[in-house]
Amino acid sequence: MVTFPFLRPRRLRKNKLVRDLVAETTLFQDDLVLPIFIKESINEPEQITSMPGVYRYPPNDKLVNYVQDSYENGIRSIILFGIPSYKDEIASSAYDKNGVIQRAVKIIKDSFKDKIIVITDECTDEYTSHGHCGLVNYNNGCYVIDNDESLKIHAKIALSQAEAGADIIAPSSMMDGVVKAIRDALDGAGYNDILIMSYSVKYASIMYGPFRDAAYSKPAFGDRRGYQMDPRNAFEALKEARLDIEEGADILMVKPAHTYLDVIRLVKDHFPEYPLAAYHVSGEYSMIKAAAINGWIDERTAVLEITTAIKRAGADLIITYYANDIVRWIKEGVPF
Ligand code: PBG
Repeated sequence: MVTFPFLRPRRLRKNKLVRDLVAETTLFQDDLVLPIFIKESINEPEQITSMPGVYRYPPNDKLVNYVQDSYENGIRSIILFGIPSYKDEIASSAYDKNGVIQRAVKIIKDSFKDKIIVITDECTDEYTSHGHCGLVNYNNGCYVIDNDESLKIHAKIALSQAEAGADIIAPSSMMDGVVKAIRDALDGAGYNDILIMSYSVKYASIMYGPFRDAAYSKPAFGDRRGYQMDPRNAFEALKEARLDIEEGADILMVKPAHTYLDVIRLVKDHFPEYPLAAYHVSGEYSMIKAAAINGWIDERTAVLEITTAIKRAGADLIITYYANDIVRWIKEGVPF
């Protein structure tokens, strides 16, 4: 006589050892990429008001020490964002060979050689007086972003980052054709072994707010909706990803992450053979942090649940301001 219920899924959740044995998704420390802000005009690290626990670093030994601490903790991959002292209409400090990012890449590479992967965000917004991700043409009080002229600048920036020693260039402008423009420039200069991690599927998201405070990169006028994707669209992500693959991207990215798990799953299902990054962005960080500071949420469990969900959705790597904390928490043992 079989008693009801015959099928008992709860057996697999019986205790932590059984749950660990059958878990489908595990977060590893080498899945994580740590973002670092580097500001040219400071000598000491300064905390970012809207991102408690995240700092801007000067391009000096303070930065090297922070990378060293992160390295000892287990971080093997970082993505750098530059905050220059000088901005103009054409982002000239973004391709200056003594620019803030070039200097930062050099000192990190001098100290760490090939022990750590250095990724550089490739964009113009932090370097331009107008704060846009391309060049702006003004016309009777109106403005347009000049896509094709912008490509030349993006190629120049990418090349100068490669010359400084970057391992991976990450174009984040969402300009049409930017991946090919960069690939051609890198190959033309003999940098055919430098990878491109494209922000292929980047939404025009309110979640970048704290980053723009951190990097002083809010557009001076208008917004980014003319180049970043519309949050209402999911299938359009496949078009963007496909074009970037055709243009030569090595790694694709969906950004933000937590708010776009459906898109991560969609892109991974359609292009499983391409590594997929997901960027857990500043606003996603700050929301958890604010709740944690107020004692409204258990930060460790919340962060591990969310980042594991991002991986479960299909991300192979996760860019997150929580990277160092996650590495520590993984070592302590996950709470599931
Ligand atoms: C552009 C760039 C942005 C972010 C990464 N690269 C800002 C933007 O598009 O406005 C945002 C990342 C975050 O919010 O954490 N250089």
